[in-house]
Amino acid sequence: MSEHILVEREGGLLTLRLNRADKKNALTRAMYSQMAEVLDAANADRSVRVVLITGGPECFTSGNDVADFLQAPPTGMDSPVFQFMRALFDFEKPVVAAVAGPAVGIGTTLLLHCDLVYVSRDAKLRTPFVNLGLCPEFGSSLLLPQLLGPARAAEVLLLGETFTGAQAAEWGIAGAALEDGPSTLAKAREMALRFLDLAPSAVADSKRLMRAPGREQLRKVIEEEGALFGQRLRSPEAIEALSAFMQRRKPDFSKIGRAHV
Ligand code: COA
Repeated sequence: MSEHILVEREGGLLTLRLNRADKKNALTRAMYSQMAEVLDAANADRSVRVVLITGGPECFTSGNDVADFLQAPPTGMDSPVFQFMRALFDFEKPVVAAVAGPAVGIGTTLLLHCDLVYVSRDAKLRTPFVNLGLCPEFGSSLLLPQLLGPARAAEVLLLGETFTGAQAAEWGIAGAALEDGPSTLAKAREMALRFLDLAPSAVADSKRLMRAPGREQLRKVIEEEGALFGQRLRSPEAIEALSAFMQRRKPDFSKIGRAHV
């Protein structure tokens, strides 16, 4: 078990809290594996009625651990990150997210697969896949253009533009933007607890109906993105961009020929 994921129970509410503050809650393979295990067990456990995912009041997550991307990149659908996202994608009960501070890469993508999302107004969401020589993942190339429209989605996905929690709420990624981290956590918890008074099968049936349209297309897109993402992770462009992050310098793509990407 990773000490970087805290699991708390409060009656039927299960909270998954990312707890790796020194690395801005960057997600390692061990963290993905633990979250996948917890989600699969919670899905099967009738006493769990709702899951809350948070990184605490200051930082949601800086996304996939960049050192892991370089040293142990995901190799296929059995990889821990895929296991986690599959568990989230297939989760039958409501999932609530509370986001404050940075939500980078998969930290933004995973919100598209949650049911209720609350953000602090000044949260900073970003999907810098292209900036890292990569491509969108886990359905973001389909879901973000659907939510934001093609032009805004291009700013976010092609340029890696940062957007705020306030914008995320305006664009429909989040249900509401709150004053700060603590009020965001409190709102998310309050809304999650409301599920405990509702009929669980009615909630699950309704979630399934809401997610059914486009689900097969989404599954296909996720597979296509996953295959390309895996290839791109081994590309000279990605290796340059990821190494540059680790070395705290700007990447230089000028010497990488098109034929070699
Ligand atoms: N993977 C591994 N380490 C990471 C990380 C990541 N995704 N994000 C941050 N860290 C580490 C930094 O290297 C630094 O480590 P150090 O103290 O040992 O040098 C520490 O976490 C703090 O990060 P820092 O960049 O100094 O914090 P900040 O407040 O200035 O910026 C972020 C926070 C999240 C905006 C910035 O860290 C960032 O952009 N991270 C990378 C995000 C990313 O590209 N993720 C992959 C997406 S696919």
